[in-house]
Amino acid sequence: MSDRPRIFSAMQPTGELHLGNYLGALRQWVATTRSGEFDPIYCIVDAHATTVEYDPREMPTRTFETALTYLAAGLDPERAIVFVQSDVAEHLELTWYLGTVTAMGDLHRMTQFKEKSEQHKQNINSGLFTYPVLMAADILLYRATVVPVGNDQVQHLELAREIGRRFNARFGAVFPEPVPRLSTTPRIMGLDGKSKMSKTRGNTIGLFDEPRAVEKKLKGAFTDEAKLRRGDPGRPEICNIFTIHRALTPESEVAAIDRDCRTGALGCGECKQRCAAVVVEELAPIRTRGLELKANRVQVIETLREGAARARAIASRTMADVRRAMGLSTAGME
Ligand code: TYM
Repeated sequence: MSDRPRIFSAMQPTGELHLGNYLGALRQWVATTRSGEFDPIYCIVDAHATTVEYDPREMPTRTFETALTYLAAGLDPERAIVFVQSDVAEHLELTWYLGTVTAMGDLHRMTQFKEKSEQHKQNINSGLFTYPVLMAADILLYRATVVPVGNDQVQHLELAREIGRRFNARFGAVFPEPVPRLSTTPRIMGLDGKSKMSKTRGNTIGLFDEPRAVEKKLKGAFTDEAKLRRGDPGRPEICNIFTIHRALTPESEVAAIDRDCRTGALGCGECKQRCAAVVVEELAPIRTRGLELKANRVQVIETLREGAARARAIASRTMADVRRAMGLSTAGME
């Protein structure tokens, strides 16, 4: 095993990832993988996605497109394991055992469960409730210590840490403690300015959006309601467009944007145009690589299968330790 810290992170297979996924997580995944300082594993969590109503005929495409986006964004499968969660059954096995050291009260506190039960009132299933246990299993199965995520996953990660601690306290030290690693822009708001950017809310910039669509969407984006016309002073700290500038625009220009927004010298229209330009520039190579990969479907599937085989090798070692620690299976009788 490598002595570099192991990274694990994942996304649900929504099909089209958006700028929030990218600036909150994926861009960091690519950078940390390139740095060579970590031992990274990235997953597409299709089992998590079964906790809400979905069309099974669409799932393979959504999963494929999500994997394709990881690779198109620059994740190098030679340096990182990239795989599909349901290809490695140990995730589900570990979930069961971790469930036995997870307090119901802790699960009840999860804000994402509360939100999702509001959104899916007709289908509040137990999978939705134990979703964070599966997430803990994802991470602990690989004994990952670094988990690059956006803000909205921090609460789940704290619970994963707690679950690992409870397991260790009861059965012996099997799992290390995973810590979140946030990007400098861990929460990108949606274009409506009301809630975080999210596919289900339809307020996103897709990573494969055409330049013209990006420009159009940003043109209509919410900024600062106190800044109605050019000349009005703005507040960059509450403006989502400024957050995107901070992520993508060169630092010296960001300082000028901050200053000129505050004095009113820079209007929202021009600021948005400049924002669209940097977004389009960032997304251009992702679009190009995405198209190339689409033409190489078999190769992408092969990459995922190889990734699953490598992941399984690690996962089965952890599960052997877990079963031994818990006194389970015939292996314990020998
Ligand atoms: P998911 O699929 O909702 O989101 C994937 C990643 O994108 C980040 N993200 C954002 N960051 C900034 N601004 C936004 N508007 C925004 N929207 C999404 C998320 O924080 C996340 O990092 N439960 C997880 C998936 C998961 C997981 C794991 C993550 C399953 N197992 C183990 C880490 C480790 C989820 O639904 O993410």
